[in-house]
Amino acid sequence: MATIISIQNIAQYEGQEVTLRGWVYNRTDKGKLQFIQMRDGTGIAQCVAFKKDMDESQFEVAGKLTQESSVIITGSVRKDERAPGIPGGFEVGIKTLELIQMADEYPITPKDHGVEFLMDNRHLWLRSSRQWAIIRIRATIISAMRNWLDNDGYMLVDTPIITPSAGEDSTSLFELDYYEEKAYLAQTGQLYNEANMAAFGKVYSFGPTFRAEKSKTRRHLMEFWMLEPEMAFFSLEDLMDMEQRFISHVVQTVLDKHQAELKILERDTSSLERVLPPFPRISYDECVERLNKLSDEATDPEQKQLLHIDWGTDFGSPHETAVAEMFDKPVFVYNFPSVFKAFYMQPVEGRPEVCRSVDLLAPEGYGEVTGGSERISDSALIEKQVKKMGLGREAYAWYLDLRRYGSVPHAGFGIGLERTVAWICGLPHIRETIPYARFMNRKYP
Ligand code: 4AD
Ligand code: MG
Repeated sequence: MATIISIQNIAQYEGQEVTLRGWVYNRTDKGKLQFIQMRDGTGIAQCVAFKKDMDESQFEVAGKLTQESSVIITGSVRKDERAPGIPGGFEVGIKTLELIQMADEYPITPKDHGVEFLMDNRHLWLRSSRQWAIIRIRATIISAMRNWLDNDGYMLVDTPIITPSAGEDSTSLFELDYYEEKAYLAQTGQLYNEANMAAFGKVYSFGPTFRAEKSKTRRHLMEFWMLEPEMAFFSLEDLMDMEQRFISHVVQTVLDKHQAELKILERDTSSLERVLPPFPRISYDECVERLNKLSDEATDPEQKQLLHIDWGTDFGSPHETAVAEMFDKPVFVYNFPSVFKAFYMQPVEGRPEVCRSVDLLAPEGYGEVTGGSERISDSALIEKQVKKMGLGREAYAWYLDLRRYGSVPHAGFGIGLERTVAWICGLPHIRETIPYARFMNRKYP
C-alpha cells in the first residue's frame, strides 16, 4: 500500500510510491500521455498518465476526465524542475487511477467570468487557485493574531452575538424579534470585553460582527470578523505600542509562510516587508492641516475638493489614502473629534471636543484596519454618554456597573479581519477576503 500524502509535502516523497486523493484541476491530452493537474486542497501536482504504464481501461478513463472530477491516484514521485504545480517541481507517474465521480460540465473555466457570476458560484469559485491562496492567508492571519496574543498573556473570552443594546452606534443595527422583545446582532464584542477585562486583565474576543450599513463600498461587509483586545490599565500610548508589535507579527508571519500564495496573487511584498515597529503617529488635527495644505496646492479641481476637509468631519477614503501616502508604513491617527466617534471614548483632558482614540491606516489605499481608544472610566460621564444613544438605560445597566465596582483606566481596539486580508493580499475588493460575503444585495450562497 502506497502512503496517502498531502501535495504540499510531495518533496519529501521523491522516488516513492504515493497516493493522492483529490480533484482534477486541469487536463492536457497528448494522445498516449495525459497530463492531469490534480489538486487536493493543499496544493496542485502534475500527474502523468502514460499508456504503457497503466491498465488499459484506467488509461481510457484518464483521457475522459472532466474538470473537477474526483479521483484517487497512485504513482511514483519524480523530481522535474519543469513540472508546474503548487509547490511544483515534482510530478507523479501514474500507476493506478480510481475514478470517484466524473464531474458534470464545470461552470467555472479558465476563461474570464463576470464578478457577479463568480459570486453566485462562490461555493465552487473557492476551489480556484487565487481564492485558495487568499483563504489560506486568511487562516494564517487568524492563527498569527491568536498565537501572538495567547503568548503575550491575553486570554480569549467569548462575547455574545445576540445583544440587548447597541455596542457601537444606533444607526447600523440588525434588529431581531427575540421572543417578542427587541434584540440586535452584535456590532462589536467590546462592551462585554470591558466586563471580561475587569475579570481577567488582558482579554480578547474574536467573532463575527454585524453592521446594517447602507453602504456599497469595496471596504464594507454587513457581516465581518473582528478581533478585539481589551486591556486594564492601558493608556492610548500603551495601546499603540502593543498594536504595532501585534500587526507587525501578523504581517511578517504571512511573509514567512506564504510566498507561494503571495506569488499567485501577484502581490508586491516590498511595502509589507517594511511593516515593523515603530509606526508613525499623527494627530487628527495635524492630518486636517496637512490635507488642507495638499488641497490648496492641488492644481486639479477635483483633487482639491477631494482632499479638503473641515475640522470635525470624519475622513473619507481619499483622506485616508492621502494621509497613508505621507508615510512608508501603516500610520496611527489619534485624538479624533468626539462628534463622530463612539460614546465610550475618553475625552482628552482640557479639550473635551477630541477623544483618546486611534485608528490605524494601512498603506496603499487600504485605509482604516483598526479602530480603538481609551475608554471612559468615570461613572457619571459614561452614564451621560449612554443616554445619548437613546436605546434605554436598562439595557446598559450591567455596563454602567463596571464603572461602579472597581473602575480602572483601560483601552482596547478592534481589527477588521477582512480589511486586513485585503491589505496583506493586495486585493482591490473586500468580497474575496471572506468565504461567503454578505452585502446589501447578496446573501447567497
Ligand atoms: O472602528 P470600529 O467600528 O470599532 C469598533 O467596533 C470598536 N468597538 C472596536 C474596539 O475598540 N474594540 O471597527 C473596528 C474595525 C475597523 O477598523 C474595520 O477594520 C472593521 O472593524 N470594520 C469593518 N470591516 C468590514 N466591513 C465593515 N462594515 C466594517 N466596519 C468596521
Ligand atoms: Mg472605526
